Amino acid sequence: MNNVTVGAAVQDTLEREYDPFDLVVKNESYEYYEKLRRDGPVKWLPSLQAFAVANYDDVDALLKDGKLFSSTMFWPALLGEFDPVPEVPPMISMDPPGHVHLRKLANKAFVPSKIKLLVDRTYEVANALIDDIIAEHGNEGEFDWATEFCALYPVTMIAQVLGVQTERRGEFKIWVDNVLAAANRASYGPERLSEIQQRSDDIRKFFEDLYDERAADPQDDLISQFIAAEIDGEKMSRIEVIQMSILLLIGGVETTTNLLGTTLVELHRHPDAYKRVRADETLIPALIEEVLRYNPPVQIIFRHMMADTELGGVKIPENSTVMPLLASANRDESKFPNGETFDIDRKIAVPLMSFGQGPHYCLGNYLSRMEAKSALEMAFQRFEQLDPISDEVEWLDSYFARGPHHLKARFKVR
Ligand code: HEM
Repeated sequence: MNNVTVGAAVQDTLEREYDPFDLVVKNESYEYYEKLRRDGPVKWLPSLQAFAVANYDDVDALLKDGKLFSSTMFWPALLGEFDPVPEVPPMISMDPPGHVHLRKLANKAFVPSKIKLLVDRTYEVANALIDDIIAEHGNEGEFDWATEFCALYPVTMIAQVLGVQTERRGEFKIWVDNVLAAANRASYGPERLSEIQQRSDDIRKFFEDLYDERAADPQDDLISQFIAAEIDGEKMSRIEVIQMSILLLIGGVETTTNLLGTTLVELHRHPDAYKRVRADETLIPALIEEVLRYNPPVQIIFRHMMADTELGGVKIPENSTVMPLLASANRDESKFPNGETFDIDRKIAVPLMSFGQGPHYCLGNYLSRMEAKSALEMAFQRFEQLDPISDEVEWLDSYFARGPHHLKARFKVR
């Protein structure tokens, strides 16, 4: 960037208010987050009718106080009328005691001892996807890292955990992308909205059928376990199992896909780090942590006020929507010195906000870190060259999820 452009960008940031619906802000939010932390970390956002919260300590405190900052409106705020299963909330959108019961049940499948059993499978899946890329494009050339690798890898893994056929993984991704696009529903026209509704119906129908198949003929998979499980002597209803399965599919697909996509973006932007990671694979876990901090897949989540309160000197009335800006908290200078700098040698002294905090702390955090590590190891072993061809990134059209929509890369196999 020359000085004139830099000057224009600074001017723009000074004048433009943080508004997640604003395209410029959505594409490069970080300078606006920084401005919020500096000038007023709790801010009313008219476009979303919600209070944004930008500082680490405020975000941390509110996520740990599930009584005052309820999760019950999370799904309605995110998906609105496009929730595939509006009859019952998913656990991410529940408060105690219902949340605690469901979490205990689902957690059994995601504890480290269970996830470790999937390690070999992660390498196999990554390896097979790279074989497919080579079969399609030859030993060197160009392919889309975001759609041909990142988008297919976590969906294959989570399909295996849930017990659904991996042949339909392409469809899962399309369903999940569309359902999550409902977060932007206020800015879409009728055609796009009807497509989202159709995908939301498709995902529901798929899991209804799968439930009925597994109820009649249980298999060794998570859906069959949910059907059989009892919580305090009560079984989950059919609709609860369907909602839980869809939540795990949504949680397990988009996020890890975006983590892997963004990792290649950041490696391209930080060639010294890329060189070092290439020379020493033991740096991969530190790389993943820094990408999770610096440019996390989930930028923002939602809470609902159960009573009047005050946060950062701003009065927040009961029933308001509050949006903790996880991605902003991760760059808070008071916790992460030189927070705006990408640094894989960083000593991280406090928990990242990337997976949330408190009672809803991400159930899949261990799985996604493990998946990302295996995928990057496999990609670096098999590709001698793997570089995005452009400095420009086409980010997903979402203020909530962050990752490249497409990422054309030049590759050469070893
Ligand atoms: C890099 C990858 C991931 C990121 C950044 C991420 C992010 C998050 C965040 C921020 C939350 C907290 C939501 C809240 O407090 O309201 C969360 C919760 C959750 N995540 Fe993840 N996630 C990732 C991967 C996964 C995977 C692989 C799965 C499962 C297969 C998963 C399943 C869930 C579930 C079920 C919850 C809800 C937990 C509860 O309500 O108790 N996530 N995730």
